[in-house]
Amino acid sequence: MTTATNRVKIFDTTLRDGEQSPGATMTHDEKLEIAELLDLMGVDIIEAGFPIASEGDFRAVSEIAQRSKNASICGLARANYKDIDRCWEAVKHAAKPRIHTFIGTSPLHRAIPNLSQDEMAERIHDTVTHARNLCEDVQWSPMDATRTEWDYLCRVIEIAIKAGATTINIPDTVGYTAPRESADLIRRLIETVPGADEIIFATHCHNDLGMATANSLAAVEGGARQIECTINGLGERAGNTALEEVVMALKVRHDIMPFTTGVDTTKIMNISRRVASASGFNVQYNKAIVGKNAFAHESGIHQDGMLKNAETFEIMRPADVGLAGTSLPLGKHSGRAALRAKLNDIGYEVGDNELMDIFVRFKELADRKKEVYDEDIVALVQAGAPASEHLKVKFLRVICGTEAPQSADLTLTVDGEDKQVTAQGDGPVDATFNAVKQIFPHGARLQLYQVHAVTEGTDAQATVTVRLEEDGLVVTGQSADTDTVVASAKAYVGALNRLIVRRQKSGKDTKEVSYKDTV
Ligand code: KIV
Ligand code: ZN
Repeated sequence: MTTATNRVKIFDTTLRDGEQSPGATMTHDEKLEIAELLDLMGVDIIEAGFPIASEGDFRAVSEIAQRSKNASICGLARANYKDIDRCWEAVKHAAKPRIHTFIGTSPLHRAIPNLSQDEMAERIHDTVTHARNLCEDVQWSPMDATRTEWDYLCRVIEIAIKAGATTINIPDTVGYTAPRESADLIRRLIETVPGADEIIFATHCHNDLGMATANSLAAVEGGARQIECTINGLGERAGNTALEEVVMALKVRHDIMPFTTGVDTTKIMNISRRVASASGFNVQYNKAIVGKNAFAHESGIHQDGMLKNAETFEIMRPADVGLAGTSLPLGKHSGRAALRAKLNDIGYEVGDNELMDIFVRFKELADRKKEVYDEDIVALVQAGAPASEHLKVKFLRVICGTEAPQSADLTLTVDGEDKQVTAQGDGPVDATFNAVKQIFPHGARLQLYQVHAVTEGTDAQATVTVRLEEDGLVVTGQSADTDTVVASAKAYVGALNRLIVRRQKSGKDTKEVSYKDTV
């Protein structure tokens, strides 16, 4: 009896239904690699392709079949002998081969080959019998089962079972069903169809209404013992049931859904990334289980809770799906506790005052940047507070164009007094430095100007280092900002502030107020 066991088989169709999504085509080698990962992960059946569809599909299915270790290898075939023979040719070398044959049974689908109910019933009988004569393990699917008339569905399933099908798959081809209906359908089929308790019922849900996972789990409650699914929910239109979602749901909510699978869940993340890169379908950030944000917490309250006890906001451990750990990305919603934790994490022990100082600058940065990376934090810490605040950048606007010269409109606060100039230069940084020099004339030589983009993306933070030398005194200023020119101005002014302090300390303070004459 199918429902006597609580073991649910996982049938992965990433390489067949998943690869059918427009634009998700994978290369031969990618298919082999993904099949190997699926096999190692412990899925029970891999639907490796549709052998009659192309030479490439045939080759992929037959090579996957030959290399398979534990999983059954299945190929898809329409309800005709040619498809089924080709499918068998491809899967027959697998240790555990399976033929999956299907036909659309709903009124809309019956109209396409223009078959009457009786003609289709006969076709089903003949093709399933043919498949079973070739292969011990035959799966049959009445495509669009959830929109097929109840009596006719029962009739054709009974025919397929009698003809030798060992698994009956109930596809919700257009993602039309809903959880209660999905459970009831399987339950009623098991109660009604003669021979139903001898075979396994499978559920195959599409996600057009976003209910594929819920419908699959409900089908299991109704008695299905095979879930058809794909990695990352890849598949036609809105996709198929996501493997990672059903497997983790059964694991995390085992208390109310006491079913098990053979999947090693710690392999989920790796295969998800591999499928995303092979198919070119990036995983949405907030996708359950495998999205970039699935184990990330940014708000201050959540981060604080997570630092105290991970279970406050996490129902599964990142390690359960193969992730190294929770991520507490720093952003404008983060609080001091998370900033301190991050600083400790990347090797900085700071006192309360220093933390406050870094926190203020961190918030300024986070307001301008979507995500603040570790490198940004290092840059913030290293930039530090200026040695003194004789000079401070108050306002900067640069005008750039393809035609030189560029100009910079700069206001510096000099010992509490605002000074404004507009200067030109060969490029925005040169114009800005000229403006600084006009407000604060000095003889220091620029020894080094270095820009380092510390993170990726167009909103990356740049760290600028400026080294000045004057009469043997060498000073360095460093600043980080999402705007390279602003970081340059601040680094330059920071170096000058240090120079002023060094001059005072070394008794060379002869030019202290010379800027006053120039503005
Ligand atoms: O969605 C569907 O009906 C299918 C069948 C081929 C099983 O993918
Ligand atoms: Zn499908």
